[in-house]
Amino acid sequence: MDFSIKTIDAKTGTTGIKTDCIVVGVFENKKLSQAARELDRKGDIAAALKSGDISGKPGSTLLLRNTDGIASERILLLGMGNEETISEKNFLSAAQALARSLAGLGAKDATLALPLDSVNKRDAAWAIRSIILAIRDNAYRPDTLKSQKDANSNGVRKLAFATGTTDSAAAKNAVAQAVALANGMELTKDLGNLPSNVCTPTYLANTAKKLAKDYKFGIEVLDRRQLEALKMGSFLSVTKGSEEPPKFIILKHMGGKTKDAPVVLVGKGITFDTGGISLKPGANMDEMKYDMCGAASVLGTFRAIGEMGLKLNVIGIVPSCENMPSGRASKPGDIVTSMSGQTIEILNTDAEGRLILCDALTYAERFKPAAVVDIATLTGACVTALGHHNTGLFTRHDDAHDELADELLAAGKATGDTAWRMPIEDSYQEQLKSNFADMANIGGPPGGSITAACFLERFTRKYTWAHLDIAGTAWKSGAAKGATGRPVPLLTTFLLNRAQAGSGRKAA
Ligand code: BES
Ligand code: MN
Ligand code: ZN
Repeated sequence: MDFSIKTIDAKTGTTGIKTDCIVVGVFENKKLSQAARELDRKGDIAAALKSGDISGKPGSTLLLRNTDGIASERILLLGMGNEETISEKNFLSAAQALARSLAGLGAKDATLALPLDSVNKRDAAWAIRSIILAIRDNAYRPDTLKSQKDANSNGVRKLAFATGTTDSAAAKNAVAQAVALANGMELTKDLGNLPSNVCTPTYLANTAKKLAKDYKFGIEVLDRRQLEALKMGSFLSVTKGSEEPPKFIILKHMGGKTKDAPVVLVGKGITFDTGGISLKPGANMDEMKYDMCGAASVLGTFRAIGEMGLKLNVIGIVPSCENMPSGRASKPGDIVTSMSGQTIEILNTDAEGRLILCDALTYAERFKPAAVVDIATLTGACVTALGHHNTGLFTRHDDAHDELADELLAAGKATGDTAWRMPIEDSYQEQLKSNFADMANIGGPPGGSITAACFLERFTRKYTWAHLDIAGTAWKSGAAKGATGRPVPLLTTFLLNRAQAGSGRKAA
């Protein structure tokens, strides 16, 4: 889909817009939006509402054809709910219905004349982004490996947002940012949906190299020998059982001032998690191909900020390997030394995410970061705690961390990619005690997502840090199985907000 801005001619207004389909809003109380009133020269729209052919409920739609005196062949009426205040929720339902309707029309292009700046507490940029994301999500098909693609000959190909002359520059910018975000999410979905025999650590590294070329990022990919030299004993203990070579990817987008401390994103890149010697049960094990969704969200976010030309320094770190059982695999009770020097007793080889992340978090210290955010499909316990709606957000509890947490929560809210804050407290740290090493890699079933975060916390004391557990939000199971592209909207918006706040933040 191609998105653009169309400035409404002051003389002819919406009636003169040349398009295959013009979309206008109608409301539940049988009221018409301003654009709908303009188009309603003969009273067809009012009559449609009066007759009950369209209710005006959020997401209701009705197509009128060949209306007298209107340049557009079709008018698509879109219900937006209550007129007084269009709520966020109602606007999003309307956006989804719009996406489905446009995909089923014979029209090739369409123009939206919707009340984009009338959503409660949100601006036109928010409304534009919501519509573009809904359309791109509706059009997404995970069919790269199907020999027959879904034939999709129907549907609108070009969509213009009609705006007044005064806001057209802001609207153009909003469209460009939303498309960049949608492109980033698409990469994240594609990588997540690819099977582990295609999407290996090497494949992720090659994807990062291609991104670096396309958007002029700095890149380094470290191999096993280099990881040994760095003494990443914890990361290396996870990859031991696998034939696939591990990769440690570093991407650099230096869009800010040279001296500004960067934001570092660290993504868990387990391309398949069998559990290792602590083998997982067979049912639904295929879904553990999604255990690299943290990595995929870092790469997707880089695509988005690269396309936006974001004015901020951002570094992406992706430790990637498989977690496999074999004669060479780590065994329960093995003790390893992490890059930080702390020793870890591996009581369960299935708690491998924290073992690769802890070394990546130590590696992040060298960038003297303004903040570090790690993103990981870390625990089933997080799914139990928060379900599939909210990503788990964990930070320490002091002023600097409360501020970071608030930034991440707000970015999630603004994009409908929400997170919920969970506690990190010393009382939970006690569950990680080991008789033989500095810590164990599991803390038992109670508060499993919290003890996982507490484990990571021990490797992040040199900077401001947040952890996002996306085990419940990165993909959907069942009939609609597929990656969601989350939390790319949250991360991208967080970075955009930081870039807008400007002012080089000092290293923590
Ligand atoms: N990748 C899994 C977490 C996971 C499981 C995400 C199911 C989504 C759905 C992680 O590596 C893991 O296996 N975690 C264990 C930790 C336990 C052994 C302490 C878990 O959650 O069971
Ligand atoms: Mn695991
Ligand atoms: Zn895992």
